[in-house]
Amino acid sequence: MAVLHLHTNTARLHTATVEYNHRLKPGLFLLALLNTELATQSLPAQFLTIKVGDTHSPLLRRPFSIFNASKIAGMAPRVEILYKVVGQATRIMSHLKAGDQVSILGPLGKPYPIEGVSPLLIGGGTGIASLHFLARRFLDKLIVPKILFGARTEDELIPLPELGRAEIHLATEDGTVGFAGDVVTLAKEHLPGAHDAVYACGPREMLSALKEVIPSTPPCFISLEETMACGVGACLGCSVQLADGSYATVCRQGPVFRIEELRW
Ligand SMILES: Cc1cc2nc3c(=O)[nH]c(=O)nc-3n(C[C@H](O)[C@H](O)[C@H](O)COP(=O)(O)OP(=O)(O)OC[C@H]3O[C@@H](n4cnc5c(N)ncnc54)[C@H](O)[C@@H]3O)c2cc1C
Ligand code: FES
Repeated sequence: MAVLHLHTNTARLHTATVEYNHRLKPGLFLLALLNTELATQSLPAQFLTIKVGDTHSPLLRRPFSIFNASKIAGMAPRVEILYKVVGQATRIMSHLKAGDQVSILGPLGKPYPIEGVSPLLIGGGTGIASLHFLARRFLDKLIVPKILFGARTEDELIPLPELGRAEIHLATEDGTVGFAGDVVTLAKEHLPGAHDAVYACGPREMLSALKEVIPSTPPCFISLEETMACGVGACLGCSVQLADGSYATVCRQGPVFRIEELRW
């Protein structure tokens, strides 16, 4: 079974200036980085690796999906990263302030193919980041996506003010807001419906549960967030097994795959 081979060879090292680093909720931040090339070239599901600080610790760059990339007349071109503080690098990132400089490698990885006129987007937790960017691109084409967005509890739901024109359904596992249950259970009520393409991003368990309920049509594209080291296809640390038994690197051959391409 073939891995999606889309384009993009535009990745390179950039120095970007922090425009803002807003705390949206406890432990959840929106980081805006000023950089014209990244704002112009980045596509939904592509990611950046960020080197935080100028010390040797943490040594490795950390990968983050692009939440938004905008180049609007009269405004500085920027990319935005939505991130959750989970460890050393994200803790350092949470202290970045306007004017700080960070080293970025990107944009990396293959983007989502933008298909269909009635897309269904299914996101769990910070997996909503790449889908937010995708939804923006659909809205730019005057296509209104349906978005199912789930989290454990209301406090973990991310505000999506820029997607006001999209049809958004929320799910919380503890029932504090929206559908009471996980987002895959909610998705069962919307599949296949009139949708002609499905896109999903979230924790591996969520995607695995989705595989159990997803019909064979329409096509379902998922974006994986495997732990990465090099981010450029050199270390094989992010390899996943495909349905045919071969392996693919998420950073270079992904992060987007057709759901049936993977061995679950
Ligand atoms: C392609 C891609 C896109 C990503 N996009 C986002 C995003 O948009 N927003 C966001 O908040 N995070 C995203 N991540 C995850 C993010 O890279 C990690 O949270 C970050 O590297 C953690 O760094 P740290 O030093 O703070 O924590 P670490 O100390 O490295 O890790 C803290 C804890 O988180 C776990 N962890 C680290 N990376 C991952 C991972 N990829 N998946 C599951 N658990 C992990 C570790 O096992 C450990 O338990 C993405 C990852 C990938 C590969
Ligand atoms: S992280 Fe090194 S090959 Fe993907």
